[in-house]
Amino acid sequence: MKDNILIIGGLGHIGLPLGLIFANKGHDVCLFDNNQNNKEMILNGHLPFIEEKGDVYLNKAIRNKKIVINNENMIIKKYKHVIICIGTPLDEYLNPKTDDFLRAIDSFIPFFKKSQNIIIRSSIFPGVCDLVYSKLKKKKITNLTYCPERIVQGKSIVEIPYLPQIISGYDNNSIRKTSNLFLSITKKIIISSVREAELIKLFSNAWRYLGFSIANQFMQISENEGINYEGLRLKMVEGYERNKNIPKAGFAAGPCLLKDTMQLSSFSKDKSGIFSMAMLINEGFTDYYLEKIKSEFGKKKIKVGILGMAFKQDIDDIRDSLSFKLKKQLELNGYTVVCSDYNIDKYTYKEQTLINECQSIIIAVPHKSYKKIKIPKSKFLIDTWGITKHGKRQNQR
Ligand SMILES: NC(=O)c1ccc[n+]([C@@H]2O[C@H](COP(=O)([O-])OP(=O)(O)OC[C@H]3O[C@@H](n4cnc5c(N)ncnc54)[C@H](O)[C@@H]3O)[C@@H](O)[C@H]2O)c1
Repeated sequence: MKDNILIIGGLGHIGLPLGLIFANKGHDVCLFDNNQNNKEMILNGHLPFIEEKGDVYLNKAIRNKKIVINNENMIIKKYKHVIICIGTPLDEYLNPKTDDFLRAIDSFIPFFKKSQNIIIRSSIFPGVCDLVYSKLKKKKITNLTYCPERIVQGKSIVEIPYLPQIISGYDNNSIRKTSNLFLSITKKIIISSVREAELIKLFSNAWRYLGFSIANQFMQISENEGINYEGLRLKMVEGYERNKNIPKAGFAAGPCLLKDTMQLSSFSKDKSGIFSMAMLINEGFTDYYLEKIKSEFGKKKIKVGILGMAFKQDIDDIRDSLSFKLKKQLELNGYTVVCSDYNIDKYTYKEQTLINECQSIIIAVPHKSYKKIKIPKSKFLIDTWGITKHGKRQNQR
């Protein structure tokens, strides 16, 4: 059955692809967002960020008149399902800004209807769903479900149809309504309690974040022994299933992994320090690059080129990218830094010019096309990811 769906935060990295998937299944979708900067661009068929298959889905949705963009509260009540996908960042002390999220909910409540099906999709601090539920209940609204998003950024459209969708809620009726809605875009649903769903989301990201911190630690141990970690890792995983998930070393950045690990740390009042330790290792990885440059060049003030300014490969999102922290640290130490990232308009410094001009090149993000890049042996290459042939063998001259 085709439904009508309003997505709050509908122009963001999670809301927009989700809206396009629903629209391409025939649902009528309103992308509701208080930031209308990209409205015209989207209505002209262009996504404001990289999303695999995004343009195809967007153009089909526009052709079939299945999406509209709006930000007027009065229209909220027209929609049967309301999916909340707004951001849930941390503050400057790494505490979740739950107040902002709850304030946003307060601002929508006067426009919700009793019969509407409200779905939270943002990654939230455990207990926030209960708070939202108690606010809604005062208005006699009881249809609330929490359905966390578990895609990797840039691949929503490709992954959502195959990923099992966790669905949790406060009564069977709303769980049934939300399950039916998600079964129109994904093959499998898994029902859980609300607290389980909140923890599943945070555990999933913390698991990945801790995994990266272990790889980053392994890397520093092996390089201290003069052994290239990526070469070693490939030998570890070859034909040995149990090791196959050991990640490459490199920057673990972006708006989700650190944030959700810190939410978990805060929620669990972590006494072991395991989550903070992962944060120190991953966020401190820029020091490792800096020290490599310093030990190679000493006080010589060379020019360093950073390839890759996005927070991860093959996307154009710079939110919480560690490349910027690295740039700042290098500059504070007197080095001249130039940056390039062909996915990001502001950083279109030509790769070849950067390679010619700089004495040291750091591949900070393993964008696909960097695999083919040729770096002369005379340059000091730091290729932690082991993406180039040269870097796979050794991270030195
Ligand atoms: N980006 C990811 O890969 C990813 C993956 C899984 C889960 N999540 C979670 O999904 C949520 C959204 O993340 P995102 O990356 O899409 O963030 P985003 O910043 O790209 O998008 C959020 C959107 O919400 C809009 N918005 C904020 N407040 C609003 C309001 N009061 N009314 C209307 N619109 C409002 C913003 O303008 C923005 O367009 C977060 O909780 C995040 O942790 C993100």
